[in-house]
Amino acid sequence: MDNFQRLLLQRRSIRKFREEPLTSDETRLILEAALLSPSSKNRHSWEFIAVEDKGMLVRLSQCKPHSATFIADASLAVVVLGNPLESDPWIEDASIAAINMQLQAEELGIGSCWVQVRNRSYTDTVSSGEYINDLLEIPMPLEVLCMIAFGRKEKERTPASLDDLHWEKVHIEKYKMM
Ligand SMILES: Cc1cc2nc3c(=O)[nH]c(=O)nc-3n(C[C@H](O)[C@H](O)[C@H](O)COP(=O)(O)O)c2cc1C
Repeated sequence: MDNFQRLLLQRRSIRKFREEPLTSDETRLILEAALLSPSSKNRHSWEFIAVEDKGMLVRLSQCKPHSATFIADASLAVVVLGNPLESDPWIEDASIAAINMQLQAEELGIGSCWVQVRNRSYTDTVSSGEYINDLLEIPMPLEVLCMIAFGRKEKERTPASLDDLHWEKVHIEKYKMM
């Protein structure tokens, strides 16, 4: 348990990566973490696309005007898809799989960052999801929730601290206004 909390503290979003690729074992462990995730009614409403091709990573990094550029320098991006027709809580299913991949990556010392796609725009008329569907030939009715960028950390970040926890967000027995 102590080790798990250390992992939670250590995981920070990493947006600067070294060029050294991940090993195939590391990539497999990350994808296994996704596939081991719990899902509503055990329906496994998610699917994943692992992208390592440099040219495709650059194009994915352009899926929205801000906050995705670093995908171009990642070694791996996992595009996290959900099937709304398969499961009403597809967003929850896909989110759990996404964070499990990030935690597995951290356990391997690999940096990662979530890139939000759902409800984001490529242009005024094209959503980020539509742009990615087109690039990766994703069929209906699958939807892109997010992409997780992975790579070797350029440098370590300061871990989170238990001293900075937002305990005011926790209410005991009933909701209390602060
Ligand atoms: C749902 C969600 C969406 C996020 N979207 C982005 C994003 O599009 N681009 C980005 O650079 N970081 C994104 N992040 C990373 C957050 O900015 C980051 O987790 C937060 O600032 C806390 O920092 P930490 O991960 O280092 O603890 C996202 C995180 C979550 C959970």
